[in-house]
Amino acid sequence: MLVAVAFLLVAAPSPLGAMKIPDDNPQAPEKIALGEQLWFDKRLSVDGTRACYSCHQNEDGLGGHDPLAIGPGEKKLTRHSPVMWNVGFLPRWYWDGRATTLEGQTKAAWGGSNMGVGNDNLEAKAKTIEAIEGYKTQFAKVFPDGVTAANVVKALVAYERTLVCDNTAYDRFVAGEKKALSKQAQSGLALFTGKAGCTGCHPAPFFSAAYEAPEGMYYNAGVGTDVTPEDKVDVGRMSVTKKESDWAAFKVPSLRNVAKSAPYFHDGSVAKLEDAVRFMAAGGRKNKNVSELLVDKKLSAAEVKDLVAFLKSLDCPGVLKAPKLP
Ligand code: HEC
Ligand code: HEC
Repeated sequence: MLVAVAFLLVAAPSPLGAMKIPDDNPQAPEKIALGEQLWFDKRLSVDGTRACYSCHQNEDGLGGHDPLAIGPGEKKLTRHSPVMWNVGFLPRWYWDGRATTLEGQTKAAWGGSNMGVGNDNLEAKAKTIEAIEGYKTQFAKVFPDGVTAANVVKALVAYERTLVCDNTAYDRFVAGEKKALSKQAQSGLALFTGKAGCTGCHPAPFFSAAYEAPEGMYYNAGVGTDVTPEDKVDVGRMSVTKKESDWAAFKVPSLRNVAKSAPYFHDGSVAKLEDAVRFMAAGGRKNKNVSELLVDKKLSAAEVKDLVAFLKSLDCPGVLKAPKLP
């Protein structure tokens, strides 16, 4: 009897499983709180105009607002900002998977054109953070060597690893709450895993095969290749592997929170979820390297609507709240 009670008190395990945390950056509450402040702090950018949060906001499902992200100095970047939920579970980061650690990705976002600081100026920027009294004392509590560029990155990443979305209507449905999905969403789920063939690339629980493959998972779906001259096409994964077979292939994005994170695709070229679904279900756009897995599933307008209803059941309930900055 006692055993049964104790069992009930244990929280249900996450359908996402355990996140891998590297030994040199363990999670700790004070580190996470510090990372949360840095995530929202525009003083981290080159000119005080951008925080990490600026391009990954609640209103945009923690993805980007602009089709192509706009960095400091109003510089148009080459890709659309991805959704941040469950980012700590990925094995590779960016649309082309060029970052092999989340720490490396975050350092690149800070030094590169997203925040515009410049890789050689990160220590100088850390000094300006150190000059803010509240930060200096908080860093001293978390890191023996205080405010350094590497520690700013570690704190940011510890916070990013808390952005977990594992309690959507779909998750509750799978856990036994049968009313969590409407009849239409249930038809959409059946299509998603059946006739429409979406699970091949977007399998549960992440709704992307990229999370459970050691190098991530990339396909050419023909996004953008029909409107851009071939020599100007963003080659995506090929820029990392140099293989022709990866030409214009991009990471399979998670579909968790997808209904809230318009616009869609690596170039933000599609504004509405229904149109993105129709594009995928019709087999993408033909080009010299489009994935053979993408074929026209000949869905009716009603079936596309059912798929959209199902995708809405993947909305993440969480909301980020800006903390008080020092
Ligand atoms: C100006 C907009 C902008 C700002 C500011 C910005 N990002 Fe991003 N972020 C992007 C874009 C665009 C990408 C995708 C780039 C690519 O794939 O080449 C991205 C990708 C990422 C990814 C990879 C996600 C994935 O699914 O692979 C992470 C993590 C991330 N950003 C974290 C951060 C952090 C941390 C900061 C602050 C240090 C930051 N971002 C600031 C636009 C921005
Ligand atoms: C062959 C693998 C594959 C299959 C099958 C597939 N997708 Fe995708 N999906 C991708 C890739 C790759 C992208 C990103 C393409 C890009 O941005 O260039 C993507 C992007 C998306 C997006 C945009 C998400 C975002 O955040 O921008 C949606 C929505 C989507 N797929 C839905 C579906 C649906 C619904 C199906 C089934 C009809 C499906 N996909 C089938 C690989 C696939």
